[in-house]
Amino acid sequence: MERSLILLKPDCVQRRLCGKIISRFEEKAINIIGLKMIQVTPELSKQHYAEHVEKPFYPGLEEFITGAPVVAMVLEGLDVIRVVREMLGATNGLNAASGTIRGDYSSSRQMNLVHASDGPDASAREIALYFADNEICGYEPCLTPWLKASDE
Ligand code: CMP
Repeated sequence: MERSLILLKPDCVQRRLCGKIISRFEEKAINIIGLKMIQVTPELSKQHYAEHVEKPFYPGLEEFITGAPVVAMVLEGLDVIRVVREMLGATNGLNAASGTIRGDYSSSRQMNLVHASDGPDASAREIALYFADNEICGYEPCLTPWLKASDE
């Protein structure tokens, strides 16, 4: 089992798309084990986007990510980091394939609705930034025997 940190970004909250996007993860049978709404501060933005802080687009990114609340989630599942990134599609909504979340709902590079960790190191770092251990509620879904074979 793997975990990934997901943010439904301020554009997602403002456009009232959170329910639709959470449903996509639920319908894919991915387990939501943490979920909360928070206001990202400039300090948290700089920690989250540490690799981008020196890039020319960072000031605009910080203004955007702190401009309204986000919904932060921890998702758990087999290969969930790759699976969720494939569900999101390309970073720029204009390039994202139809049928992906960004392909269906975003026409922007910055306002691309959802952030998802891009690897296991990023996932561990980002989950620790947004969630305390006691805010993560791992559980065994009662539907598991109907979602995958016992050797998967
Ligand atoms: P995200 O997956 O949250 O990770 C970094 C974010 O920076 C990315 O989504 C985009 O929203 C944003 N981003 C990446 N590249 C650019 C760029 N060239 N110009 C503006 N924003 C960008």
